[in-house]
Amino acid sequence: MVSAWPYTSRAVSEKQIHQWDPRSPGVLRDQIAAYDRLRRNSPVAHSEYLQWSLFRHGDVVRVLHSPGVFSNAVSERVSVPNGMDPPEHTEYRRMIDGYFTPERMARFEPVCREVAVGLIRRLPRTGVVDFMREFADVFAIEIQCAFLDWPRTLHEPLLRWTRKNHAATLAGDRPAMAAIAVEFDAYVNDLLAGSRRRNKGGRNDVLALLARERVNGRPLSDEEMVSILRNWTVGELSTISACVGILVRYIAAFPEVQRLLRQQTSLLPAAIDEILRIHPPLIASRRRTSQEVKIGGCVLPAGERVTLIWASANRDESIFGNPDEFRPDRNPADNLLYGAGIHACPGAPLARLELRALIEELLKRTRTIGLTSGEEPVPAIYPRSGFSSLPVEIIRTPDCS
Ligand code: HEM
Repeated sequence: MVSAWPYTSRAVSEKQIHQWDPRSPGVLRDQIAAYDRLRRNSPVAHSEYLQWSLFRHGDVVRVLHSPGVFSNAVSERVSVPNGMDPPEHTEYRRMIDGYFTPERMARFEPVCREVAVGLIRRLPRTGVVDFMREFADVFAIEIQCAFLDWPRTLHEPLLRWTRKNHAATLAGDRPAMAAIAVEFDAYVNDLLAGSRRRNKGGRNDVLALLARERVNGRPLSDEEMVSILRNWTVGELSTISACVGILVRYIAAFPEVQRLLRQQTSLLPAAIDEILRIHPPLIASRRRTSQEVKIGGCVLPAGERVTLIWASANRDESIFGNPDEFRPDRNPADNLLYGAGIHACPGAPLARLELRALIEELLKRTRTIGLTSGEEPVPAIYPRSGFSSLPVEIIRTPDCS
């Protein structure tokens, strides 16, 4: 639909602006297909819900490398480091990167495998399982809690918060989103207080380490610590769980890829990034224009909200040719799975480790993973990607007790 939208602000477009509704049933039924159509027909579109959305790889990359024009200060809440611009962002980001070094990842790998194997062993020996409900959501929570050294008692509340948060985000219900955030903050504040009490002996779990950090010569405030932890948990749980569902659906739907990966596990890192390019786990991220700027043929005034649609940019045929073609040998620099520029995902080494270890253990401990003939996977709806339900048939290997 191209409308002669009554645009009365200073924004000027060289062509008519395409209006769309990101929450319409037509989009939610199959988000990826809807974004493909938008990228081809109207690569810059406007909606009341998201304001400006960018669908092309080139436009998204330009935004990522222009933090002076496209600011990350999009929300009133403290958001460390996502909601910060340079120079403030730089110091916080340096501190955060220290939690995802190769040494830390190597130390975490055995724990990661233990969590994966524990969950695989809880799957039936043979039969159909809803992989989202019985595996992916639980894996995401268990693995993040293991990384943070958080107690098992937090698993259930985290699952509840994540689900409530999605519902509130889809509804655009800001008061509900704020209330959920407050609920989360209270729990993390309790954990921080407990960690401080125990920390007399110099513990080295993530909470204790964060409490000893100094940025710009001063310790982190409680609000900053809670924000960091919120981003590492509630913010990422759905992405990790979406990744697990997308990967398992793909290897179930494409037996030749499954065979290849069973034979050559060394292909897993590149194959995982490529599958998650074909079917992106993260839909979008936000920016705000800090000055008037022309992008994709549209002139956006200062102060406008801009949404980068990862789920479209990473499928742009001008970069990837046929977006659905599985080619793990593509140039990794083109893949925006973990973003690019100064806000590129610091947790990428952790996410890559978790996903590789999980898929490797899953392939090792199953004979086959296949789609069922009766029930179809149900796509997740915005703001989630991947699947809300994923029935798959598995046969585990007998040596797996
Ligand atoms: C599961 C797969 C994951 C994907 C696909 C993913 C993807 C991304 C992307 C695309 C960005 C850039 C956002 C932007 O430019 O606005 C980002 C940023 C970020 N990610 Fe991830 N992420 C994942 C997992 C994680 C994990 C496990 C953590 C931490 C435990 C994490 C922490 C962050 C943080 C803190 C930022 C903001 C960085 C900054 O603003 O400097 N992510 N992520």
